[in-house]
Formats: sequence, structure tokens, C-alpha cells
Amino acid sequence: MKAPIPRMAAEGPKPEMSAPIPGQMSTEQMRKVMSMTYKYRGVNFQPMLVPVENLKAMETFQVRDDDIFVLTYPKCGTHWTMEIVYLILADGYPEKINRSEKMSFGALEMSMPTMPVPAYKMAEDLPSPRVFPTHLPENILPPQIFQNKGKVVFVTRNPKDCVTSLHRFLTGSNPNAKDNWSEVFDQFLTDEMMNGSWFNFNLSYWKHRHDSNFLVLKYEDMKRDTKSVVIAIADHIGRVLSDEAIDRVVENCSMSAMKKSYKKADEEKVMLFQPGQKENLVKFLRKGTVGDWKNALTVAQNERMDEVYFQKMAGSGLTFEYE
Ligand code: A3P
Repeated sequence: MKAPIPRMAAEGPKPEMSAPIPGQMSTEQMRKVMSMTYKYRGVNFQPMLVPVENLKAMETFQVRDDDIFVLTYPKCGTHWTMEIVYLILADGYPEKINRSEKMSFGALEMSMPTMPVPAYKMAEDLPSPRVFPTHLPENILPPQIFQNKGKVVFVTRNPKDCVTSLHRFLTGSNPNAKDNWSEVFDQFLTDEMMNGSWFNFNLSYWKHRHDSNFLVLKYEDMKRDTKSVVIAIADHIGRVLSDEAIDRVVENCSMSAMKKSYKKADEEKVMLFQPGQKENLVKFLRKGTVGDWKNALTVAQNERMDEVYFQKMAGSGLTFEYE
């Protein structure tokens, strides 16, 4: 029996402004977004994208046995893993993926200005097998998952590349936003980060690595040996693929293949954050490498990250490759 997960009182403001567009935020917008969070069960969320009602609804969310949850801390490989799962379900053919059905709603916990209802409500009408990306921490994830319902593919990534990717994603090509790197880095080391602390998130799920409905993967392993990861995911979600189909999945989940698929999806406006926004899926594909943190962290920041990692994660058995 697992120890019960502590619950805290629900609270949260109503959304007041439209959701900011990641990748185009100025330093000022970014500060505003980082400060405009509310806490639910000890974790910070953005009210525009994740209203408190959605989080409360997770308590009673009905999980189907064949649901697949791609569970990640943001920027740890969510879209890559989603694409692998979609491709496995489509026998390796990207053109067979029904993206407007599968990708229109973002993450399970989200509401977007362009969506008529929150994602979790849209989910009720989706055909099985449903595939949900989610960044929900352990104490908010639908409890039925911990009763062995549904399949979880959990992906983690080294925190140095994660924070680098996160900062680049939020500020993107906005030339006025480069000076907030140290703010993002400092906040990343605390519990005040949006979506909660990378450390708490990954530590709590790492403890589930032996649960039968959990498959725990590392981004760095996915990079080193994509084929083995594809086989492991297919096996975990109960799909038998031919050798040719496995090779197709590997080929079509590469950065270059995904850029083509996402470009097409963006042209078809499969997922929109804001009404009229031109593209957004390709934004989730940047460098796709291990070790880009070396272009972002100073020597002092690198040492601090190692210290904090040691303080919070020592003894957990969770270790990473950094290059
Ligand atoms: P970088 O910013 O380091 O390039 P998420 O999907 O959780 O937001 O994660 C985004 C990160 O995954 C980005 O990392 C992105 O480039 C990387 N990524 C996306 N697709 C990938 C792929 N096919 N292969 C390798 N990395 C990929």
C-alpha cells in the first residue's frame, strides 16, 4: 500500500488576462507571468492556462484502462514522446495521425482561449486509446492512475538542459528578453517555479519507477538509443509492431521529420494558443541535444545546480548524463 498523498486546500484566482504567447514574451511580460501564479496543493500554476477548476476536476477524472499519459516536467521531451506514442498507434505513418483530434487541446490540465471547453472535458468524448500529455505533479494527477489504471510514460531530463530549454522557450527569438536568464535560473532551483519544482516533481515520480503501469525514461537515453525506447514504449502500451514499423517510428520521430509534420500541423492550425496565432507546434522543437546547458549556465550557476541537486536528490538513485 502506498502512503496517502498529502492534500492541501484548493485556492486560486480567476483568469484575468489572455494567455501570453510563449516564445514572444518580453522581459516585462515574463516577469508578470512568473509572478501571476496561484498555488494549488503547494504548486504554482498560471491561472490563464490552468484554472483551479481544472485541477479540482482531476480528483474525479475517470481514467480508462487503455489511456496513455505522457507525463513530464515541462521541456523534458513531452512532444517527442507524444510523437513516438502517436506513431506507434499509427504503425509508424505520420500521415495516419489524426492531429486535430489528438493535439488540439494541449495538456490534460489546460484551458486555452481557443478551446470551447477545458481539455479534461474534451477528453470525455475522445475515442480510445486516448493519449494525454500532462505536467501535473504527483499530488494532483488523477488518483486512479495510482490504482494501476491507464499507462504512464514518464520522461525526465537533466535539469541543466531542462532549465536552458525552458528559458529559450519562454523568451524565444525575442531579443529584448535575454536578460532574464538569471531570474529563471534562480527560480528553477526553488519550489516557486511554475508547475512546481523540477526536483520535487522528478523525485516523486522516480519513486513510481517500479509501478507496473509506469514506464520511466530519460531524455538522454532516448537520444542515445531511440530504437530501444520505441520498443519499450510499444511494449508498455501493449502494441506489437513489425520490425519495419519500429524503424518507421524511429525515422519519423527524428527532429527533422517532426519539423515537417509539425509545420504541416501548424499550417492546418491544429493547435492554437491564441485566436489567429500563426504557428506554435514547431516552437516545441529547438535544438534537441544533450549538453546545450553549456551555452547558458555560468561556472557559478553550474556549481550551484550541482549543489542543489546533491541536497535534494542524493540517495535517490536518479542520475543523468550531461553531455
Ligand atoms: P531543446 O530546447 O533543448 O532543444 P517539451 O516537448 O517537453 O516542451 O520539450 C522540448 C524539448 O524537447 C526541446 O529541447 C526540443 O527541441 C526537444 N525535442 C523535441 N522533439 C525532439 C526530437 N524529435 N528529438 C530530440 N529532441 C526533441
